[in-house]
Amino acid sequence: MNCRFLCRATSRRTFIGWSIAATASPVLRSPRSAWAQSGTPVATRVIPHSKEQLPVIGLGTANDFQIQPQGADKVTLKKVVDDLLAQGCKLIDTASSYGEAESVLGDLLSDQDRAKVFLATKIEDGSSNGGLSELRNSLARLRYRQVDLLQQHNVSDPRQDLAPFREWKAQGLCRYIGVTTTFKNDYDAAEAVIRREKPDFFQVDYSLGDRSAERRLLPAAREVGAAVLTALPFGRSSVFTAVRGRSVPEWALEFGATTWAQFFLKFLLGHEAVTAVIPGTTNPAHLADNISAGRGPYPDAKQRQAMIDFFTEL
Ligand SMILES: NC(=O)c1ccc[n+]([C@@H]2O[C@H](COP(=O)([O-])OP(=O)(O)OC[C@H]3O[C@@H](n4cnc5c(N)ncnc54)[C@H](OP(=O)(O)O)[C@@H]3O)[C@@H](O)[C@H]2O)c1
Repeated sequence: MNCRFLCRATSRRTFIGWSIAATASPVLRSPRSAWAQSGTPVATRVIPHSKEQLPVIGLGTANDFQIQPQGADKVTLKKVVDDLLAQGCKLIDTASSYGEAESVLGDLLSDQDRAKVFLATKIEDGSSNGGLSELRNSLARLRYRQVDLLQQHNVSDPRQDLAPFREWKAQGLCRYIGVTTTFKNDYDAAEAVIRREKPDFFQVDYSLGDRSAERRLLPAAREVGAAVLTALPFGRSSVFTAVRGRSVPEWALEFGATTWAQFFLKFLLGHEAVTAVIPGTTNPAHLADNISAGRGPYPDAKQRQAMIDFFTEL
């Protein structure tokens, strides 16, 4: 079932109706909230350059994955990965610079897992020699022959040449290439690289609390057909802090958001340029919550504006 169609099919009148009804009756519950709990498959979106489908919810590893886990911690991390895959998701984002994260994933992933996972990593050095050495080190730590996505971590030079990345792709060391940025001072450089090099993927910090990427970077990525991954979708938890003590508004039920995590992730997935979100968690309950955001409809333009207004007025 096409979630976007479902979302569009719910009229503005319905949305406003829910808003009014919510004011009148704080205990009102929409049957649509069942999407969050049901066995409805997590939505997928196409990677524009290949038309391959990618589930919209992924997992970031810039957290406790960076430390070699022992005992119960290892069991918990394994559960996070297992649950992700069991729910039909597969994107895991890591980096050579995330402490021990690549080695930890290498230990946790079985060969069966590797066949399912869409593994994205990042290297710091984009040069032919240094980059290849760093990439080989990442592959060894991950125990992969080929990663799905290789990204230049934190692109900062507008003249950055992705020729070495294309060469590694041609050699079969990765299937897709991309660039990332989460630094505002590097946004101009990132835009120049996106427009000139037309990478398969672009990863950028984007959350309801920081919408800077909407201005130029998301449109640029869309124009060149780069799939977009949103780093820091919770602004490293800052969006949760902003709503502390508040309930999710009733009108969010219209697009199936029953928790704040779903509210924040569905906001991002409502943007036409966004392919997948990569919230970081090492908590299985949080992972389940985040995965639920991949089910049911997404907010349309009017609903997204209502979310922005709500968040801005906090
Ligand atoms: N330059 C770059 O390319 C770049 C830079 C930064 C990040 N990234 C990528 O983006 C990913 C995400 O960033 P991030 O992990 O730093 O920040 P984030 O996803 O914005 O926020 C993570 C925080 O949110 C909490 N959280 C997750 N799910 C939750 C839920 N359902 N309910 C309540 N709290 C929840 C996590 O705590 P718990 O662990 O307790 O759930 C953690 O404290 C990274 O892991 C990395 O892959 C890329």
